Amino acid sequence: MPSFEPMSFHLETERLILRPWKDSDADELRALHAERGGGTQPIEEIRAIIADGIANAAATGIALLPIQRRAEGDFIGYCGLTVGRASLEEPEIAYELFERVHGNGYATEAARAVLDAAAATRRTRLWSTVRDWNTASFRVLEKLDFERDHVTTDDRGDIVWLTRTLP
Ligand SMILES: CC(C)(COP(=O)(O)OP(=O)(O)OC[C@H]1O[C@@H](n2cnc3c(N)ncnc32)[C@H](O)[C@@H]1OP(=O)(O)O)[C@@H](O)C(=O)NCCC(=O)NCCS
Repeated sequence: MPSFEPMSFHLETERLILRPWKDSDADELRALHAERGGGTQPIEEIRAIIADGIANAAATGIALLPIQRRAEGDFIGYCGLTVGRASLEEPEIAYELFERVHGNGYATEAARAVLDAAAATRRTRLWSTVRDWNTASFRVLEKLDFERDHVTTDDRGDIVWLTRTLP
């Protein structure tokens, strides 16, 4: 495998800060996951997800990072890089934000910072896999110059693979 620099785990944009996970993010992450439907997860499960995320970031040099608004100081979701359905060499960009903040350009703003951070690791390509109904996610990726590559199918339907080269 080619060698990559670790990704920066502290990114700043005009309105946002992306920073490492803290144990105290557990309540907010639980509330974010609950918006997916399917109920509220036990807090121990959420704490384990955060602990795994921290360990994984140290081991792989890539991470999904909490997004905090600078002015309000609140946790609004996360964005970052993950192996997901792709690979450590060419990972996926991913994001999930609270519904109350959707439509303000935050996902696009956070993802732009993640693209720059990914380029700084010397990676040359990123992926994103999106359910075919997810118009908002396609729009974010379109604004970031991702292009549709191919479609795969699982038991829940079609998954569109989009990709982008990095400078
Ligand atoms: C995808 C997601 C992160 C986008 O967050 P966001 O901060 O609202 O994104 P932005 O404001 O940066 O951009 C959203 C764009 O989609 C557009 N959009 C949103 N819903 C739309 C819809 N139903 N139809 C058409 N366009 C839509 C917005 O108008 C905006 O485009 P614009 O800037 O051209 O107006 C957010 O919807 C989310 O958290 N969804 C649930 C988790 C998820 O699906 N994650 C991605 C998995 S692949």
